[in-house]
Amino acid sequence: MSTPPKQSSDALAHPAKPSADITASLDKTLRPSSWDEYIGQETLKKNLHILIEAAKERGHPPEHLLFYGPPGLGKTTLAHLIARETDAQIRITSGPALERVGDIAAILTNLSPGDILFIDEIHRLNKTIEEVLYPALESGSLDIIIGKGPSARTLQIDLPPFTLIAATTRISLLSGPMRSRFSGGTHRLEFYTDDEIARIIERSSAILGAPIHEEGVREIARRSRQTPRTANYLLKRCRDYAQVHKRAVSADAVSEALALLAIDERGLGPADRVLLETLIGKFGGGPVGLSTLAAALAEEAATIEEVYEPYLIQQGLIERTPRGRVATEHAYRHLGETPPPTAQERLL
Ligand code: ADE
Repeated sequence: MSTPPKQSSDALAHPAKPSADITASLDKTLRPSSWDEYIGQETLKKNLHILIEAAKERGHPPEHLLFYGPPGLGKTTLAHLIARETDAQIRITSGPALERVGDIAAILTNLSPGDILFIDEIHRLNKTIEEVLYPALESGSLDIIIGKGPSARTLQIDLPPFTLIAATTRISLLSGPMRSRFSGGTHRLEFYTDDEIARIIERSSAILGAPIHEEGVREIARRSRQTPRTANYLLKRCRDYAQVHKRAVSADAVSEALALLAIDERGLGPADRVLLETLIGKFGGGPVGLSTLAAALAEEAATIEEVYEPYLIQQGLIERTPRGRVATEHAYRHLGETPPPTAQERLL
């Protein structure tokens, strides 16, 4: 917990979050820069402390780590905190940015001892790159085949000890061999509680110099989808609204600002509601297959699965069943509609 991590000067692409995610831009200044500032994920933080301390005592970089969970819960932030804690340089890239063997080879051969390599969206890594990574992760060597046919030979380069920290919103798309390489553990980030989100909003409002009324904090927290990135996004929009109207960020100002953004009391935005309305209106509440639903919404199936569904499922508004997506009774009530009778009610 000392000096800030040295940032990579490399122009490695930092991946764009899904475009449908209205909350895409988490201001860097709001990102916690120490463990004390990082609110929530308490169990995970304790486990990471043990892993890091033990590694430090042994004089090794921590073992490779995989973080997974819905977008906006702090996977990248954790990688930065680990880098800071171990006084390591962090190199950032992403699955889709690594197209050729040369891309990953260039990164690996430029690592310094103890560096952290952060690969976001690791589920989008292609097979060839995965295969280069396996020996790099297991035995610290880069094995590259040069040439073709009978004259082909393998070039083996020893790599400095490093830690891979990978992040994904889609753990199920990771191959078995890839998953098994994270010897430091595979950790799921949880949705935050309303209290944790409220503390994050209070901290962010202090950093932004935008005082906010206690009830305003609660109002934003309720509508933040249990997600820090959303909380910070909504806070900034409420601050804008209050500033333009020359008002304090009160509960009323928050309600008005969020009504203007069409964010409802449960934190659902227009796209979430269209999803529920389509599921109920077009498909009788389901079950309907993901690709059919995606086509009806003119949306990517992956966006539905990664961005919209986790929160809708967590809120008990939809269910994933083997036969497809189903709207729950709560979804009907949330849209102000009467749910269909249950099987038992139909018998009466
Ligand atoms: N900003 C974004 N995520 C945060 C977290 N987990 N704690 C504090 N501030 C945050």
